[in-house]
Amino acid sequence: MTFKKNILCIGAGYVGGPTMAMIAYKCPQYKVTVVDTNPTRIAEWNSDDLPIYEPGLDEIVKATRGRNLFFSTEIERGIKEAEIIFVSVNTPTKTFGAGAGMAADLQYWEKTASQIRNCAESHKIIVEKSTLPVKTALAMERILTSQENDTHFDVVSNPEFLAEGTAIKDLEDPDRVLIGSRETQSGFKARDELVEIYTNWVPKERIITSNIWSSELSKLVANAFLSQRISSINSITALCEKTEADITEVAKAVGTDSRVGNKFLNASVGFGGSCFKKDILNLVYLCRHYGLNEVASYWEGVVRINEYQKERFVLNILSAMFNTLAGKKICLLGFAFKANTGDTRESPAIFIAKKLIEEKAELVITDPEALNNARIDLDGIEGKISYIEDPYEASDGCDAIAVMTEWEIYKSLDFEKIYRSMFKPAFIFDGRNILDHKRLFEIGFNVFPIGKPSLTHF
Ligand code: UDX
Ligand code: ADP
Repeated sequence: MTFKKNILCIGAGYVGGPTMAMIAYKCPQYKVTVVDTNPTRIAEWNSDDLPIYEPGLDEIVKATRGRNLFFSTEIERGIKEAEIIFVSVNTPTKTFGAGAGMAADLQYWEKTASQIRNCAESHKIIVEKSTLPVKTALAMERILTSQENDTHFDVVSNPEFLAEGTAIKDLEDPDRVLIGSRETQSGFKARDELVEIYTNWVPKERIITSNIWSSELSKLVANAFLSQRISSINSITALCEKTEADITEVAKAVGTDSRVGNKFLNASVGFGGSCFKKDILNLVYLCRHYGLNEVASYWEGVVRINEYQKERFVLNILSAMFNTLAGKKICLLGFAFKANTGDTRESPAIFIAKKLIEEKAELVITDPEALNNARIDLDGIEGKISYIEDPYEASDGCDAIAVMTEWEIYKSLDFEKIYRSMFKPAFIFDGRNILDHKRLFEIGFNVFPIGKPSLTHF
């Protein structure tokens, strides 16, 4: 079978895998190949047990794999054959040298750029899919043209806005697709080729085009704005707890102003996930690089409040439980950084688990999808930790429950049964405000929500 286009994606991760599966699903006329240096990951993509859990992903992969979607480790061959190459390798926060803890680590990115340059024998459009510091395309262009050869490359930026847990919905029905290009004849042509791909299923008015730097920067700023909303509401939870105001009521009153909007105002134990912290710190680093210290401090505050929220949660547990947790058994209800994913990257549960262990508490961790990752995250930590998938078994004999993740199943647990099996006095710390607090109090629990008055029997 001959295909209209050969599309390659380098990096078979959370972004590359689902995004390419959607393109293959919506565009049977294109051949889409996803490559990765990690053979285990590729083998998993080729198996019935995909490397990531994402509602709806299995069905799409099943419908396309072997038809026009392929997973492979043959990177060089893939580069040679493709006309369009999406680059979706990881760009974690740098852990060494200049900018450690702040700047993006572009080593995987640079390796990929060199590999494309070394293998390409014909014109390619290179698409930045990973989140990158603004101006990375310039570095990319320099690497690609740093050797005498006739191959021409066009670099475009097409950041991915999908959120985990809703990746398939976000890809199928995105708020917008952003494509940034150089404002040259060949840049516009490359941009139009990408627009053509997305018009297979995305309405034209939702495909936004811009200059390449705006596109790169918009991705960082979008994540900064989203996390800023969470830190804003979380900062107010602390004040609510001091004043008997209720954060849910405040969020509703504020969010019904259409200029503010009501989404992303759920108070929590803190935001996690692989993007928010990394992208804000990257933005902060860029601002400092350009000498914009006030701007940097402003955005840094979003991360500071997030750290404060996690610390505050542990201190609230400690003070509610008579200032000692030594030998007490605490069940963490959920470990993923949010519901509907098994991902635990930057999950507030990691920080909280470590702090509780430092207080010499015993932990029982439960989560429907994230227990394997939880084991890896807490590997080597000295203390008593067990991992139990069944929430009833997990809370049995515990002194307290701390809700870390807003899994739907937790809302309908039989808390009377749970209360009966727990040590008394029994405590619940609802880090997501998902439970019926009045009802829990009536059952006998001492209830500590986030940003609401506590309900206690003493
Ligand atoms: C985010 C962005 O939403 C997405 O557009 C971008 O492409 C990648 O980063 P993701 O990290 O998957 O996606 O999850 P998201 O749903 O944004 O949640 C991030 C964190 O914020 C989670 O820990 C979540 O629990 C928390 N959150 C979210 C809140 O605490 N309150 C809210 O109201 C919303
Ligand atoms: P993201 O959340 O951005 O998708 P992931 O860490 O989930 O990030 O995925 C990135 C993928 O990129 C990993 O599977 C990693 O093995 C792969 N990768 C990193 N460097 C290269 C490279 N030079 N060539 C091919 N794949 C790479």
